[in-house]
Amino acid sequence: MERTPEQVLEEARALIADAKSEDDFESARIKYLGRNGEVTALLKSMGQIPAEERKEYGKVANAVKQEITELINGGKARALAESRAAKLMSERIDVSEPGTDIPFGALHPITQTIDEISRIFIGLGYSITEGPEADTVFHNFDALNAAPNHPSRDLSDTFYITEDTLLRTQTSPVQVRTLMSSEPPIKVISPGRCFRADTPDATHSPMFHQVEGLLVDEGVTMADLKGTLDAFAKRMFGSGVATKFRPHFFPFTEPSAEMDMSCFVCGGEGCRVCKGSGWIEILGCGMVHPNVLKVGGLDTERYTGFAFGMGVERIAMLKHGIDDIRLFYENDVRFIGQFA
Ligand code: DAH
Repeated sequence: MERTPEQVLEEARALIADAKSEDDFESARIKYLGRNGEVTALLKSMGQIPAEERKEYGKVANAVKQEITELINGGKARALAESRAAKLMSERIDVSEPGTDIPFGALHPITQTIDEISRIFIGLGYSITEGPEADTVFHNFDALNAAPNHPSRDLSDTFYITEDTLLRTQTSPVQVRTLMSSEPPIKVISPGRCFRADTPDATHSPMFHQVEGLLVDEGVTMADLKGTLDAFAKRMFGSGVATKFRPHFFPFTEPSAEMDMSCFVCGGEGCRVCKGSGWIEILGCGMVHPNVLKVGGLDTERYTGFAFGMGVERIAMLKHGIDDIRLFYENDVRFIGQFA
């Protein structure tokens, strides 16, 4: 004998009471109310019920169908609400939570040093100019009054591209370009990369940076050079440093000098930084050679000027106590990050 509507209802209540997920309720719906469901079967079997019982049976079966429908719909709605609430909780965004740290980058210490040097000279009224890294033998050597047999012209010292072109070995060719393209008063600095065929070691790199300076006007003297470069050293390394000028040779200046400054670490007593001498060599300089002024077509009776050139790596190494130039080019963030 088929089960009675009461039996079906009882079993359905128990099953629905255990249902949790929307899927559980959906399978209960299929089991009882689907096309082949048990409640559907009860109603289909009405025809076989004796006529006098049919009315009562129909009433009960319909009530069973109604109760099961309500239980399932109610449970399904609850399950849906619960699963939505759980999903919302799990996807909740705490807008007050501090953000994930994105580490800040830092300017490379060489860039920082160039910026610092530039700021000092901008403060003295200079403007900044640039020249090409690949330049001509004319701009890098000939026009700078370098003797035809000057050792730096050698293939073993200079990266030649062709017979007439090279990677500049210094920023001094920018002097030539500036003299050829502008009229005095000239007051420029030019930072940039230079290249020499050096084997890398703690103090040499085949690629390095210089800052060139050039001032040309009427009546410029060695006193202007000394005053300017002394002011630069004091701003760069502290007002306590003293400077002295040692005669030297550069083909493009006459007279030429190297500027030393008193050691900013020991004050001149002698220490590791100044290698016990109390003095630190800081740059090359001199009065622009008339032969160089002539390349720019200038009247050398009327105009004089001074020039200087400094190594950026050297200055950065001194300032920050860095003992190996190669650290600048390894791009190790543990090194670069120290200059943030
Ligand atoms: N060009 C020189 C070098 O690379 C540095 C230098 C010295 C530049 C004296 C100058 C200067 O302008 O007057 O060693």
